[in-house]
Amino acid sequence: MKRIFSGVQPTGNLHLGNYLGAIRNWVRLQDEFECIYCMVDLHAITVWQDPAQLRANTREVTAGLLAAGIDPARHIVFNQSRVPQHAELAWVFNCVARLGWLNRMTQFKEKAGKHRENASAGLYVYPNLMAADILVYKATHVPVGEDQKQHLELARDIAQKFNHDYGVELFPIIEPLIMGAATRVMSLRDGARKMSKSEPSDMSRINLTDDADQIAQKIRKAKTDPEPLPESLEELAARREAANLVGIYAALADESAETVLARFAGQPFSVFKPALAELAVETLGPIGAEMRRLTADPGHIDAVLRDGAARASALAAPILAEVYDIVGLLRG
Ligand code: TYM
Repeated sequence: MKRIFSGVQPTGNLHLGNYLGAIRNWVRLQDEFECIYCMVDLHAITVWQDPAQLRANTREVTAGLLAAGIDPARHIVFNQSRVPQHAELAWVFNCVARLGWLNRMTQFKEKAGKHRENASAGLYVYPNLMAADILVYKATHVPVGEDQKQHLELARDIAQKFNHDYGVELFPIIEPLIMGAATRVMSLRDGARKMSKSEPSDMSRINLTDDADQIAQKIRKAKTDPEPLPESLEELAARREAANLVGIYAALADESAETVLARFAGQPFSVFKPALAELAVETLGPIGAEMRRLTADPGHIDAVLRDGAARASALAAPILAEVYDIVGLLRG
C-alpha cells in the first residue's frame, strides 16, 4: 500500500514556497496514492498564536488546499487537533526519541534563536509530533519542501528504534518526496533566507491570496544583481537571487532551470521579471480567486474538516491500539 501523509501549519498566509515546495505536489500525487493532508494546529501552538486568528488561519489554509485542487471526497483533509491519536502517539515517541537526536535539529535552533531557554518544550519535541502524524497512519511517503528533510530523517530513526526496541515490524520506513524545480524557495528580499510566513516584510513573499498587482509589484521589487541572466547553471549557482527567480520560473512553467536559461540567457532582469510576473499571475491568480470564494463559506470548510477528521480517526485508532498493546499499556 502506498499512503501519503503531509501537513502544513495554519500560522499565516500560504505562500509561493508552500505551494511550489509542497501543495502543488500534493495535488499531483492524488492519482497515485491514498492521501492524508493535515492542518497541523497542534504544531502551530508551539509558538503562541492568537486564538481567533488560529481558527481563521486553519480555515484559510484549508481553503488554499481545496483551491489548489485537493479533492476532499477522494482523500482526507482535516485539522490535527480533532484526531487525538496524533498527540497520544507523540507521547510514546517522546519516550523513544533521544535528547541527542533532538539537539541536532537545525529548525529548533533557528526558531528558538538566542533565547533557547525561553522556547516552549513543545517546540523542542515538535519533530516527535511530526513523526507521530505520519506513523499513526503507517504512511509510506511524505511530500515536503527541502526544509523538512531533517525532521523526516528523525521520523525514520524513531520508527526504526521503536521497531527494534520492541522487536516488531510495525512502522514502515518512510520515504520523503522532495519534488520539482523549487524545493527551497528563498525570500524575494534576501536570497540567503527561506521564503517564510514568519518573515516580517510581506514584500519578501508572494501569498496565494495576493492579487495580480501585488504579485507583479513584489516581483518587480525583488532583489537581484545588475548582470543579465547567465548561460549556464554553474554561473547561475553563484548568484543567489537570480537562481531563486529562475527556479521559481522553472517550477511555475514546469520546465527545468536549463530550459529557462536557454530562453533568457543574456537578457536583463527588466525583460525576465515581467515574464515571471505574467507567469506567476497566470498560475496563482485562479487559486487566489477560488480561495476567496471558499473562505466566504466557512460552513463548507468546517464540514470538510469534520468529515476528514472522522475518516482519519478511523484509520488511526486501530494503529494506536496496536502500539499501546506492543508497549504494554493495559487497555480494555
Ligand atoms: P510548514 O507549515 O512550514 O510548511 C508546509 C510545507 O511547505 C514547505 N515549505 C517550503 N518549500 C519550499 N520553499 C519554502 N520556502 C518553503 N516553506 C515551506 C515545507 O517544507 C512543508 O512541506 N513541520 C511542518 C508541518 C508538518 C508536517 C508533518 C509535514 C507537521 N507534521 C508531517 C510533513 C509530515 C511545517 O512546519 O511545515
